[in-house]
Amino acid sequence: MGSGETYAATQTEETLTLQGQADIWKLIYTYGDSMALKSAVELRIPDIIRRHGGPLSLTQILAGISDAPSPDITCLARIMRVLVRNKIFSAQEASDGGDTLYGLTHSSRWLLTESGSEPSLAPLVVMENHPLRMASWHYLSQCVREGGSAFVKAHGRDVWEFGLENPEFNKRFNEGMACTAKTVMSGVISGYKDGFDSIGSVVDVGGGTGQTISEIVKSYPHIKGINFDLPHVVAAAPKYEGVTHIGGDMFQEIPHADAVFMKWVLHDWSDEDCVKILNKCKKAIPEGRGKVIIAEIVLKPEGQGFFDYTGLLVDLAMLATCNGGRERTEPEWKKLLQEAGFPRSNIITVNALTSVIEAYPI
Ligand SMILES: C[S@@+](CC[C@H](N)C(=O)[O-])C[C@H]1O[C@@H](n2cnc3c(N)ncnc32)[C@H](O)[C@@H]1O
Repeated sequence: MGSGETYAATQTEETLTLQGQADIWKLIYTYGDSMALKSAVELRIPDIIRRHGGPLSLTQILAGISDAPSPDITCLARIMRVLVRNKIFSAQEASDGGDTLYGLTHSSRWLLTESGSEPSLAPLVVMENHPLRMASWHYLSQCVREGGSAFVKAHGRDVWEFGLENPEFNKRFNEGMACTAKTVMSGVISGYKDGFDSIGSVVDVGGGTGQTISEIVKSYPHIKGINFDLPHVVAAAPKYEGVTHIGGDMFQEIPHADAVFMKWVLHDWSDEDCVKILNKCKKAIPEGRGKVIIAEIVLKPEGQGFFDYTGLLVDLAMLATCNGGRERTEPEWKKLLQEAGFPRSNIITVNALTSVIEAYPI
């Protein structure tokens, strides 16, 4: 090797090491991206810009923020700088040296909170980044060392018991889930069109406060919808036309219907618990012609699709939240369903973070 090549190799090594260092710096502070996002939702910046009907200066945004007795424009500017870099807002420099104007982007439209702006992910941004929710993330390494549930280590009880005892957390959690119903269900309903056609009744197991089943019933008014969840969850559920709320325990008994729907329920549980839930589902549907429709992430660890990396992070969120909960790859789903007595299943990719998995017990 000539001395030139040695020099080039050294340079490359140096560059790679520097890049490695830069990557770590970035990961150390990546939570700043989530916190800037949460601030924008809490301050309702996307709503302020939308209400105005076009881009706004920092001064105008600040004027629109409610409950701001001593507004700090420098603080806002620094948060907006990160959000613009992440394409949450656009920034238009004024050609005459005037104020920069901040506008909405395809991302910020998902952060609106005012009525008529659904679907929105704003409640989930607030819920997932809530200190009570984030506390359990600090126990992941302890879980590696000694097993167990990160949420129980952080809060002394599992997430469902914690929700029962903490109405404020329960409300935020259910609101976060409900907003995903509108977001995910538009992709599920348009991508799984014919799947609901021949069904007369659907029970949404672990359906939260009923937003998901109400989306199904709205699109398929011939369907009689049942929203089934823990008693304290359905107790706080609003009324929806065509939907009956039933409180209970899915490990005991599930109300009967032509089909069971489950969104983001099985990912909360271990394979062993999922088999128990799926066995109860089998008893709830008519023998020989019923089906279970599952809306869940199908993990593609190396995938480059819009949602594939997020799937890995949601898997960690399950590790931080649920005892045994996890996201699953296609072979893992097929194996689990086989074990639970659903030998036939189809995975349908839809325009959403989740796919649709339909499973038949024959
Ligand atoms: C991750 S949330 C999903 C909510 C809803 N399916 C959605 O995607 O918006 C899981 C739901 O399962 C419910 N759940 C937990 N344990 C349950 C049980 N034993 N019986 C019935 N529902 C239960 C929780 O209350 C919660 O609403």
